[in-house]
Amino acid sequence: MRITRRTLLGTSLAASLAPRLALGADAPLRAQVAQVRLAPEGYPATDLWTYDGGVPGPAIRVPQGGRLSRLLVNDLPQPTTIHWHGIRLPNAMDGVPGMTQAPVAPGESFAYDFAAPDAGTYWYHSHFRSLEQVARGLSGPLIVTEAEGAPEVDRDEVIHLSDWRLSDTAAIADDFGHPHDLSHAGRLGNFVTANGQSELRYQARQGERFRLRLINAAPARIFELRLQGLSGWVVAVDGMPLDAPTAIGQIFVGPGQRVDMLVDVTADPGDEAFLLEIDRGEGFSLASFAVAPGGGTPRRPAPAALPANPGQTPLGLSDARPVPLAMDGGAMRGLSQAVWKGRTLDGRSLAMEGQFWAFNGIVGMGDAPLIEAAIGETLRIPIANRTAFPHAMHLHGHHFRELRADGSLGLWRDTILIDPGQTREIVFLADNPGDWMFHCHMLSHHAAGMGTWIRVV
Ligand code: C2O
Ligand code: CU
Repeated sequence: MRITRRTLLGTSLAASLAPRLALGADAPLRAQVAQVRLAPEGYPATDLWTYDGGVPGPAIRVPQGGRLSRLLVNDLPQPTTIHWHGIRLPNAMDGVPGMTQAPVAPGESFAYDFAAPDAGTYWYHSHFRSLEQVARGLSGPLIVTEAEGAPEVDRDEVIHLSDWRLSDTAAIADDFGHPHDLSHAGRLGNFVTANGQSELRYQARQGERFRLRLINAAPARIFELRLQGLSGWVVAVDGMPLDAPTAIGQIFVGPGQRVDMLVDVTADPGDEAFLLEIDRGEGFSLASFAVAPGGGTPRRPAPAALPANPGQTPLGLSDARPVPLAMDGGAMRGLSQAVWKGRTLDGRSLAMEGQFWAFNGIVGMGDAPLIEAAIGETLRIPIANRTAFPHAMHLHGHHFRELRADGSLGLWRDTILIDPGQTREIVFLADNPGDWMFHCHMLSHHAAGMGTWIRVV
């Protein structure tokens, strides 16, 4: 039988991973191959690349201002590194091989140690051949808990979303270089999991308030989500609190993005509430909540905003330097020519190298950064998506805001989803010295040319 979403999403997967021990400071985080029961009953276990033997990797929790220190031990058959997505950390801890550190060879280890200045929901993942290594399982949640002013909730739950491409035998399909994925919407899977399960099951009480921390760890899938029997507010995106909580309607979460929601269980006792993924007009349950009588009031007052993070500093727009970024390439709008590794090549020659996308006419990292910024400089990047596909642009080491056409500022983010034909402008303060990647988090696109970098000196 062919594994498809359709057949699998109807199935409830009882199998769950054995409880995992909390890690202490300096504890190893072991990148290792492990057999995990991912697909439902009747399918064999899947060989995955994991942190500490499970998917997702262990949820690492650090108090705001505290240090995260983990020794990456590489037991994989390939080199690897860890990128701590969304954390404003010293450049040497950013985990970009060939840029901030050497790849960690099989059998070797690397000590990551840094402070976490901003509270919120983050994640960690491999940044070495990330298209392959994340698709094989190498990601996990990273939660920085508020030093003070944490919202009052009954439950605080992480929902780590993954999108797997499984073969008929529930193995990870190893077609990572497939030109169609590289040049279209990226590697979309056929099996979605939340915390490694096809459906998470919670026991809840009517009136309970949950904090749900959604993390999109998929290589390319944009999740469209909806709530049923739950109602509430978005309180933070990409770790950064909103000025005011906004009522939840439809939720789009691009690859690499996170959304923190406070939701109240409004379904009647005996009913079920759901977090649904909407896919081609149909709803699939990612998480269900069996509702018992609570005694709480089903409708509670709106929450206050989360305390602002130190990273959310005022931006001086008047002297911000604009550096435009034009995205080109991909299927339907193929590159006629672009520069790759210092040579100008036509689209056909680039395609033979597995390269399909360019930023400002340059494919891949190039020799020079997109921007060389002085510390303390404010930068504006209008990003023009001239391709036929959405892209999820992620800036390392910094958070940015959108600068809207009317001059107002949007949410603080580290990853922005840009639809075809759109130009979206971001603005940020370059205050973290070092070389920082700026790339599409659709990992197939990144592998096929959509990555550049910014130098802050
Ligand atoms: Cu989440 Cu450069 O990555
Ligand atoms: Cu992209």
